[in-house]
Amino acid sequence: MPSYVVTGAARGIGFEFVTQLSASGANTVFGLVRNKAVATELNALSSSRKNITVLQADITDVNALELAANKVSEATGGKLDFLINNAAKSNHPGFTLDGFPSPEAVEYDLLDNFKTNTIGVVHTTNAFLPLLKNGSVKKVISISSGISDLGLTLLGEIAAEPCYAISKAALNMVVAKYAAQYRAEGFTFLAICPGLVSTSMAPTEETTPGEMKMLAPALPKVAPGFKGPISPEESVRMQLEVVDRWTVDRSGEFVSHFGNRERWM
Ligand SMILES: NC(=O)c1ccc[n+]([C@@H]2O[C@H](COP(=O)([O-])OP(=O)(O)OC[C@H]3O[C@@H](n4cnc5c(N)ncnc54)[C@H](OP(=O)(O)O)[C@@H]3O)[C@@H](O)[C@H]2O)c1
Repeated sequence: MPSYVVTGAARGIGFEFVTQLSASGANTVFGLVRNKAVATELNALSSSRKNITVLQADITDVNALELAANKVSEATGGKLDFLINNAAKSNHPGFTLDGFPSPEAVEYDLLDNFKTNTIGVVHTTNAFLPLLKNGSVKKVISISSGISDLGLTLLGEIAAEPCYAISKAALNMVVAKYAAQYRAEGFTFLAICPGLVSTSMAPTEETTPGEMKMLAPALPKVAPGFKGPISPEESVRMQLEVVDRWTVDRSGEFVSHFGNRERWM
């Protein structure tokens, strides 16, 4: 019975991970959410699929993560096979680094993104590492973003989403550091970009016109033939194919949902 923990499971890509993984009765899936009371869709799915357990933990709250890890441990006999670090936030995608209303505002946004998208993943990984060490698969997947790739940023001259992109670039190094430490124990760490996916985080003309204005000129350069965001279903299916074939010898890399660094969208 492979076991999975997915963070940020109430909606978007995280919810889709739980949906696809729990479709096989052979899998045991733990969905971590920030607020269980409002995780309506996930609660409904878990009442019809007995292999889903919904647990509450904000990934910036170490105590809540430890409690969640204890609950997973009780259910699995102290083991975990896969951790999917999916939860993340993005606050002001339309601002450039010099476009915030004040120095305090840019500092706040940098720290706020870093707290969730980078440090939150470190806390989550540390909370579940003891269980992962007892698991037989030992895969830790962290959802990053192509917008944190140096090559893509320079090629597309993408100044948008700086604080988020910086926090995800730091996340990529977090993944590399764990890989360097744990390769010898058989762990596979991977940072993966899900593509541009139609969730609440995807930029649109309606919700984030400032960001779209900055991204639009980049698209023909970085993604010729780009047809628009993909569905969470397609993104997660492609990511899981990459995760399945990724092995310990390539632990610590950062790739797209195509499994490479040449094509991000
Ligand atoms: N969509 C895209 O185009 C895209 C592109 C590149 C990378 N990504 C990455 O893909 C992942 C999933 O994003 P998404 O598109 O599905 O976004 P989303 O729909 O906004 O979902 C984000 C999830 O993260 C959770 N979350 C945020 N802060 C949290 C915290 N402190 N503790 C616990 N959970 C927290 C949210 O919980 P609540 O429901 O409680 O708010 C929500 O469930 C993220 O890592 C994102 O950076 C997305």
